[in-house]
Amino acid sequence: MQPQPGIFSLGNTEHCFIELDRRPDAAAGADAALVIALASLAGPQTSAGGLSVVVGFRPELWASVAPEAARADVSPFEAITGSGFEMPATQHDAWFWIAGGQRDIVFDSAVRVIDRVSTVATVASELQGWVYRHDRDLTGFIDGTENPSMLEAQAVAVRPEDGSSVLLFQKWRHLPTWRSLSDHDQEQVIGRTKPDSIQLADDVLPETSHVARTVVENDGEELAIYRRNVGYGGPTEHGTAFVGFCATQHPLDIMLRRMAGATEDGIRDALTRYTTPLSGSYYVIPSVDALARFVPLEGG
Ligand code: HEM
Repeated sequence: MQPQPGIFSLGNTEHCFIELDRRPDAAAGADAALVIALASLAGPQTSAGGLSVVVGFRPELWASVAPEAARADVSPFEAITGSGFEMPATQHDAWFWIAGGQRDIVFDSAVRVIDRVSTVATVASELQGWVYRHDRDLTGFIDGTENPSMLEAQAVAVRPEDGSSVLLFQKWRHLPTWRSLSDHDQEQVIGRTKPDSIQLADDVLPETSHVARTVVENDGEELAIYRRNVGYGGPTEHGTAFVGFCATQHPLDIMLRRMAGATEDGIRDALTRYTTPLSGSYYVIPSVDALARFVPLEGG
């Protein structure tokens, strides 16, 4: 079973993320119509423009349309309350991500999809992502240093038995107070050096640092996720489009809880004092094979 290749296609500079909600007044069969419309997105007319596309669905919606490929182990996003801090749940029905080298082609393609699904779904959120200084997020730090390499990424992001993934999608707004910190203080928050992303030594790594909160061991093994974050927004309002894939939901969930201070130790990630999650949702990312069953055959 092949995972959707767009999960791994690096190098695109323009990104568009759209979340959709099924129209409450849509005719019976609207869930299936939505899956069919998005499944054909991965078809030739989009890949011909050099675009990379990934589509995902709310776990129960996907289970109702494709019960044989359901992920009963994946739940929709629920709000997380931590130490004086809340991660809101804004679960929607479907998600798609179009990435490419030119904004106009990504734009045209996203508009085409929105038009195509308009009888069954409405746009619930849209986010234009862009690449800041090659591989940095808008905090100015290199983002992705500890991501698995291309050789390991598939094993981390994809469930081997069916080629599906779990996606955590969150919009994180960065607060201007971040910029009033010195580089040294910012490094204490992230847990890595700013110019070259070297992890601070264990004896000086703050327990509140982002690295300390997201490095999680289970039976001596570090939990891994595969992040494809990009920046979004403009000079006054901007942040991180967090795009995290994993074969299972647990690593994503436990990292979020540790960031929020919603675990037994109650320690909250210092990064959450300078960034605010404005949205949160989980999607099942079906394999190419599971999606292909919904694409009408040409001439058929
Ligand atoms: C505003 C939102 C976020 C920003 C700006 C951000 C930024 C960063 C940066 C700069 C690093 C260090 C370099 C690297 O290894 O990539 C990092 C590491 C990491 N982040 Fe985040 N992050 C954000 C949210 C999250 C969330 C929501 C999760 C998990 C659900 C997460 C999981 C991780 C993991 C697993 C690492 C690697 C830790 C390690 O092994 O050293 N991050 N992040």
